[in-house]
This record gives sequence, structure tokens and C-alpha cells, in this order.
Amino acid sequence: MARLSVEFSTLALRNPIFSASGTFGHGLEMQHIVPPTLLGGLVSKTVTLKPRPGNPLPRICETEAGFLNSIGLENRGVEAYRRDVLPAMARAGTCVITNIGGEKVEDFEELARILDGEDAIHAFEVNLSCPNVQEGKLPFATDPKMAARVIERVRAATRKPVLAKLSPNVSRLSDLAIAVEAGGAHGITAVNTVLGMKIDWRTRAPGLFTVQGGYSGMAIKPIALRCAWECARSVKIPVMGCGGITCAADVLEFLVAGCSAVQVGTASFSDPATLARLPGELDALLESAGISDVRELIGSLRIPRLPSPSEKVAPAPANTARGPREGVDAANALGGAASS
Ligand code: FUM
Repeated sequence: MARLSVEFSTLALRNPIFSASGTFGHGLEMQHIVPPTLLGGLVSKTVTLKPRPGNPLPRICETEAGFLNSIGLENRGVEAYRRDVLPAMARAGTCVITNIGGEKVEDFEELARILDGEDAIHAFEVNLSCPNVQEGKLPFATDPKMAARVIERVRAATRKPVLAKLSPNVSRLSDLAIAVEAGGAHGITAVNTVLGMKIDWRTRAPGLFTVQGGYSGMAIKPIALRCAWECARSVKIPVMGCGGITCAADVLEFLVAGCSAVQVGTASFSDPATLARLPGELDALLESAGISDVRELIGSLRIPRLPSPSEKVAPAPANTARGPREGVDAANALGGAASS
């Protein structure tokens, strides 16, 4: 499927599709369903310096659309990751990105230093944006200076490419994107989960022990797409889109928004074979559209603009659409909101 190959910083990828951190084990746990060689790459569950038990249960709950998690970075720590996981990852036959997390700037730096010599790892994804630790305060994801400092320190500790995983839970994501680029990031992952919560009004109990957690699934796709676009238009480094992707058309939307690759997460919970199907579906969709190279689509968004006074405006064609979009199209043609 030559039409699917892309580059992400210095990484040459067979296609733009990765598993998202925390949704797919370290990647090989699912190889009986999703052979890693089908994918552009795998992103590991977050690895921390010391083992972490994670947050108390319940730490996953379903909502009307998508689910909430507050796992709390459960993992066995970097030494177990090196000893038990990485030898197999070296034979994965695809790009391996290790996601690293910490509570202090020094934790990230130390992890990068410890893992820098591991040939099985092709790049690091720095988890600046886990909403389930430090009481959801997101210290690294909301303060551009802190985000840049973490990235600078990780860069100083490794020669591998470094991606910064950002949070949608900020008002000006472009400030964070610009800060991590200035800190030396080779790329950005946009975005982590959206802060959310659930309540059972009969029992008055929250759905999660931690009350709030990270919301994911197809419902967040419009938010994630906007975030990815905001990052891509603010920086020169490549962006990996993440959030609510379930099908090949979703992948292409993120590429058109400016992403060079994407990650698929929550979709694997409802159908673990999603990632196995996506590359073939993507190829077929491009073929049906007559596109021979997926890279043509990257950043190809056509931003609507008003005609300049010197441009002659052709009359809009009559709207012959039928079905639920009819009212929206009619309202847009009148220049108003569909619901007003
Ligand atoms: O809580 C968790 O393990 C999730 C991490 C994240 O969203 O980064």
C-alpha cells in the first residue's frame, strides 16, 4: 500500500496509523488481532520511573457516548518495561513510540536517559497531559513554560525524536504548541482526553472514584480535530492527531486538518480489530477518490473566505438536498444558525 506511506519528523512510516497510548497495552498484547506490521506504529502505555498501582476502582465508566477513565498511570515501572517488554518490541516490525510520564520535570528527563540506549524504541511521546494524576491539575499541560522545560530536559537526555502529548483542557492550545516547539519537540500529539465526569443521581455516586477523569471516544472527535488543526497551523513540527477516530474517513479529516499521522484509541475497546482494518479501508477510500499518495491531503484544508469586493459572486446553486441536513444547509444559505 505505497500510497499510504508518510514521514513524521525523521520517522519513515508505512502508513499514518498508530495505536494510542493506554488503549492497546504496549502493543504486542493485541498482536493476535492486530499484527503490528499492519500499522504505522505503536505507542506504549505510559511508563513511569517507579511502578504505580493506579487509582482506586471504579476507574473506567461508560457514558452515553464514549467512556471516562481515571486509570492513574498504572504500570510496572521503567525497569520492568526494559526487562520484560522491550525485547519483544524490538521484533514488532513497526515504529515503536514509548510514552513517558512523571510528576516532576526530573522524572521525564531520567526516563529518557534510562531508555535512550534502547534500540527497540524509535521515539518518545512525553505525556504532559494525563488528567488522572496530580488531582487533575495538569501542571505540565496548562503552563507553556513548564511544558517547554520538560521537553528541553527530555531533549537533552536523548537523541531520539521527542513528541509532546498535549491536552485539550486549555483555552489557548496554540500557546502550548508553540512552547513545546521552542523547547525542541520534534512533533506534537494532539490530543489527550477531555476532562469529564458522570453521576448516578439515584445513589449520588460519581462514576469514577476520582470523580473526574478523561473522556474519550467518537464524541470528542470534533474537539480533537479542532485541537489538532490549531496545533498544526501554529507550528512547523508535525502533528499526530488523536481523539475519537473510528474509521478511515476520520483519519483523512485529521490529515486534511494538517496532521501527518494519527492515533486510534477508544475505538479498539468497542472493536479490537479496528486497527487491523483501518489501513486497508484507508487505501480503498483513497483509491475510490483517485488519490495516489495520502501525503497530498496533509494540511489541504480549504478555509472558506469571503469574496473580495473585486470578485464577482456567482449565485449559489439551488439546494436539492433531502434529509436531516436540509435545515442546516438552508440556514447556512440564509447566513443564519440552523437552530435559531
Ligand atoms: O490515567 C491514565 O493512565 C491515563 C493517562 C492519560 O490519559 O494520559
